[in-house]
Amino acid sequence: MEEKRKFRVAVITSSDSGYKGEREDVSGPAIEEILLEDGGYEVVQKIILPDDFAMLRASMMKICDEGTADLILTTGGTGFSPKDIMPEVTKEICDRMVPGIPEAMRAYSMTITNRAMLSRAESGIRRRTLIINMPGSPKAVKESLEYILPALGHGLEILLSMTSNCAR
Ligand code: MTE
Repeated sequence: MEEKRKFRVAVITSSDSGYKGEREDVSGPAIEEILLEDGGYEVVQKIILPDDFAMLRASMMKICDEGTADLILTTGGTGFSPKDIMPEVTKEICDRMVPGIPEAMRAYSMTITNRAMLSRAESGIRRRTLIINMPGSPKAVKESLEYILPALGHGLEILLSMTSNCAR
């Protein structure tokens, strides 16, 4: 039987201090570890950028428009700080929004901490790439990503025309 190809993932960390090398990025590697454990994904790009609208926008658009990743997972920049702009960047560049994914992450995360209601995470599709905003801490990343991962492959298969069949 032919082996299924792995989904290509770009992990983008939005952090001023991480970009300057003043703080170690721990959330990006947490995403990578979970994907590695799953086995269905390969991380093809790891990018640390400052909380800068134009830089985040350009980087994410390039990945989508050149089709170099099937999935972009961002971490950081989804909270209430005036610097947190990841949801706005995501909304601006997506052709179609996917509200169910952040809704599911928040609904599940609310069973762990009521602070989950403070997440402004968004998800959407640009061309053939799905973008999902993850929270900024490794704990929150783990809780959120592990929860959505079992359904994600099916969505990506439809997006990439690998299946049109929703039957289990
Ligand atoms: N979701 C989960 N699963 N676990 C958490 O600990 N923390 C929340 C929330 N989502 C949290 C979570 C907190 S404290 C905030 S402020 C918001 O996500 C926004 O997170 P961010 O600023 O790290 O992006």
